[in-house]
Amino acid sequence: MSEHVKLIWRDNTYELPVITGSEGERAIDISKLRQMTGMITLDSGFANTGSCKSAITFMDGERGILRYRGYPIEELAEHSSFREVAYLLINGELPNRKQITRFSVLLNDHSLVHEDMRSFFGSFPRASHPMGILSSMVNTLKSFYPYLEGEEELNITVARLISKIRTLAAMSYKISKGHTVVYPRPDLSYCENFLNMMFNSPVRPYEIDADVVQALSVFLILHADHEQNCSTSTVRMVGSGRVNLYASISAGVSALWGPLHGGANQAVIEMLTNIVENNIPLKEVLSRARDKADPFRLMGFGHRVYKTYDPRTRIMKKMCDRILTKLNIHDPLLDVAKELEEIAVRDSYFIDHNLYPNIDFYSGIVLRAIGIPTNMFTVMFAIGRLPGWIAQWKESMDDPEWRLNRPRQVYTGPTLRQYIPIDNRQPVC
Ligand code: CMC
Repeated sequence: MSEHVKLIWRDNTYELPVITGSEGERAIDISKLRQMTGMITLDSGFANTGSCKSAITFMDGERGILRYRGYPIEELAEHSSFREVAYLLINGELPNRKQITRFSVLLNDHSLVHEDMRSFFGSFPRASHPMGILSSMVNTLKSFYPYLEGEEELNITVARLISKIRTLAAMSYKISKGHTVVYPRPDLSYCENFLNMMFNSPVRPYEIDADVVQALSVFLILHADHEQNCSTSTVRMVGSGRVNLYASISAGVSALWGPLHGGANQAVIEMLTNIVENNIPLKEVLSRARDKADPFRLMGFGHRVYKTYDPRTRIMKKMCDRILTKLNIHDPLLDVAKELEEIAVRDSYFIDHNLYPNIDFYSGIVLRAIGIPTNMFTVMFAIGRLPGWIAQWKESMDDPEWRLNRPRQVYTGPTLRQYIPIDNRQPVC
């Protein structure tokens, strides 16, 4: 039986349908609200607003649950590969052997980047942030590769993006260091290839370590989708204007860059490094985070959806211990991070505000251990998030209810006034 919510305003009562999702979460359908009442809703930051129906990722922020296409993140991180998770997110089901082989062949066939694109890297100023370069390069792909839109052809565009983003990221690193670019190899897996392109050199061959490959794969799986976050909503929003997939993803990369979103992994390492190098007492760090007059926030803490422990953080924290032990690294940042977490989760401010470490609190320590430079951390997040962006873009394109995204506003500016010729205007003091 369909349920309704009653909205009473002045002398009128309006009935708004209730929509129930497959996990029982409920939403009030306000699609006819303005037509019925002349009013809109106001929800800054969209904290109470659903922008779409989606069958890709389920999150329960109160219970700390994350599932891709129904599969728990814990099981995927333990048993799956990034390539398989990418397939799952984009196509809706885990692939059988034939399907994964075909996907791997596509990824391999499209892993090279047009040689003319190499010259662009050299034109960016040396100090450019890799996220700015990545966003530009992803957009540029549209000029180099025909944009294929049919059902089967879209698979090629998708494979191009997933494969080339990894090549572009490694190329930008090599070129920024003035080193020879390393090309992808057909005999290596997705993660092995990335590590080899990043770290192999003619004078120091890179030895691929299975545990490092596993750490990278888990890192990418944990980042692969997170329902309607800032960058994913950007991809959907830009795509709603029916722009091509490359341009939508490029916009997503830019949205991810910010320190409140994907840029937090870099910000956490900078914060922890500052604490260690300047021997800052952790109590002082927490008291700054509590102080409303201080813009400082504890980076890597808090989340719009998770009001309990982020399930990805638990896996990432374990991965820190595993990979540091394997590589025989003692990272003082991990000691400080653990200590900081311990005192923060017992602090009344953090308890009252439901602030727990998010994935970015520990992910940078794993990336540091495997040799990724700090300014590339958010690029790693982007490589991981790409299958999610693609899946969400694809879902939005196929959605019969999908319309151009165009929010409204409550105008608070001046009411009607007449134009004043320049000589009649008040001089500014
Ligand atoms: N340190 C101190 N106080 C915080 C923090 C923090 N990290 N995060 C939230 N708060 C406080 C905030 O001051 C506010 O307090 P009050 O209600 O007393 O004014 C309250 O908690 C709610 O904060 P908000 O900014 O309204 O919450 P939000 O849901 O809009 O923000 C967030 C979520 C992730 C932007 C925020 O928690 C934050 O800035 N965290 C640090 C940055 C970070 O780690 N970002 C990565 C997010 S996870 C990766 C991803 O998926 O993008």
